[in-house]
Amino acid sequence: MDLYEYEAKQLFGDRGVPLAERQLAASPEQAELSAARLGGKVVVKAQVKAGGRGKAGGVQVADDAADARAKAERILGMDIKGHTVHRVLIEEASDIAEEYYASFLLDRANRSFLSICSAEGGVEIEEVAERRPEAVVRTPVDAQSGLDRDTALAICAEAGLPPQVHPPAAAVLQRLWEVAREEDATLVEVNPLVRTADGRVLALDGKVTLDDNALDRHPERVAFHDDGASGSLEARAEQKGLNYVKLDGRVGIIGNGAGLVMSTLDVVSYAGEAHGGVQPANFLDIGGGASAEVMADGLEIILGDADVRSVFVNVFGGITACDAVANGIVQALEMLAARGDDVSKPLVVRLDGNNAELGREILTRAGHPAVVQAPTMDGAAAQAAELAAK
Ligand SMILES: Nc1ncnc2c1ncn2[C@@H]1O[C@H](COP(=O)(O)OP(=O)(O)O)[C@@H](O)[C@H]1O
Ligand SMILES: [Mg+2]
Repeated sequence: MDLYEYEAKQLFGDRGVPLAERQLAASPEQAELSAARLGGKVVVKAQVKAGGRGKAGGVQVADDAADARAKAERILGMDIKGHTVHRVLIEEASDIAEEYYASFLLDRANRSFLSICSAEGGVEIEEVAERRPEAVVRTPVDAQSGLDRDTALAICAEAGLPPQVHPPAAAVLQRLWEVAREEDATLVEVNPLVRTADGRVLALDGKVTLDDNALDRHPERVAFHDDGASGSLEARAEQKGLNYVKLDGRVGIIGNGAGLVMSTLDVVSYAGEAHGGVQPANFLDIGGGASAEVMADGLEIILGDADVRSVFVNVFGGITACDAVANGIVQALEMLAARGDDVSKPLVVRLDGNNAELGREILTRAGHPAVVQAPTMDGAAAQAAELAAK
């Protein structure tokens, strides 16, 4: 789960990371009041879960409270990379002398964490890494032994931060590391970490991704659940406990098992080349025990996606055999039709594995007009892509 900047900064503040004074506002009036409380000169910052807000016009300096109100009016409701701005963070404007970059991220391949630090912050770190790779310092951080002060100081020195900044910046690195470890984050990023004209080191931006698998250890974090995006397909899928990711294409995908679904995306994408570049519309893994209920939930989400033109159901019968899955599909379509949902989009079904023969018979007998059966994965992908291109 990605956090908003204001949520990330809550975690930072709890662990003693130095921040600028700030307040959250949901209306221009609130923005004006907050700005007045913070002394007038503030930065109005769009709260959306996307980077590059500054470039998109979502971060603006205001000279006084009235100006903050005007800027908030402009930013609230703005669309930034597909995210609507519902709230702004009103933050005391800092007098920035220099901008640095600091992050900790989970390095799965090496079963470790990685600290990334650079004296060239404020811009995208990928850009810096490409232009001047030597300016980006990568240091492994072991989850058990952590980040001691000497290592933090060495990172600051190697990254080329000015010597007088080393002690405060190293302290910030250690605190950010604490956030990463204690909160079970897979990413903690501060860009920019700044030195102010009066010599303080502050985290001016914050991006945190929490590990959803560790949410049980942080019951208080439920408060961070996304409210702004509720009603979206992804939020609805999450409520139903489905593993769903929305993509850009038109072929809805349902499969059992993450590996099978991943390869289904590839196969559909490949088959789509022959039909003007048709692409998958989503990732959806209904898991091992694909009951009628879960199949209905999955179909409901996918058929509710206005971009979807055809659906590819790709199932390999294992613990739940194909006859059970076939019954699930038939019942799911009945359940959805009974509720008045539109179930006329073509459904290409490929069943293989345990009791595949029996499963196909069940679908044939049911004779649902939207269901087309295909014996192979490649054949099914080609059919689904062709139907989506019509
Ligand atoms: N409180 C602040 N005071 C002064 N400048 C700020 C403040 N917050 C952000 N900025 C400036 O705006 C830029 C963009 O803001 P940031 O929070 O990094 O958003 P994003 O990374 O999404 O563009 C920063 O690099 C910094 O130069
Ligand atoms: Mg930033």
